[in-house]
Amino acid sequence: MADLTGDASSGARKRKIGVASDHGGFGLKDALLGRLREAGYEIVDFGNERLDPADDYPHFVIPLARAVAAGEVDRGVAICGSGVGACVAANKVPGVRACLIHEIFSAHQGVEDDDLNVICVGGRVVGASLAWELIETFLNARFSGAERHRRRLAEVARLERGGPCA
Ligand code: RB5
Repeated sequence: MADLTGDASSGARKRKIGVASDHGGFGLKDALLGRLREAGYEIVDFGNERLDPADDYPHFVIPLARAVAAGEVDRGVAICGSGVGACVAANKVPGVRACLIHEIFSAHQGVEDDDLNVICVGGRVVGASLAWELIETFLNARFSGAERHRRRLAEVARLERGGPCA
């Protein structure tokens, strides 16, 4: 499980954040990229790199989710129109814990308790200022590591591998 510092730099290394969106989230992704870079994060942009009204969110979200699961990026930001499709798709990748987040409490508590590693946001739901606050909060939050949360996450991971629910 990730145990990242709240800073944009983790030790000598910049934290690497993956970002992905379809057309519904394209404008918001574009607005957020500069802010993430200014805040000191290294960004991996999984696309779409242009506004294509016919594109499909899994084509961008799944590569992002796989990169998060593989540890190639520290955390992910997935955006579509509502954030719902991005969240559904990202959670199909084992090791990904993605959630649609549109309020501040869950942006940090989802990491502290549930070790959330992908935040999903709706580009047609929230504006750039709120989205930035949500993402900053998510990126600055750390998993508590508390035994009860590790136990619950271990059960989720067991289910993900096709095992029984205790
Ligand atoms: C695309 O129009 C839209 O359906 C998509 O961006 C997203 O909102 C799906 O959940």
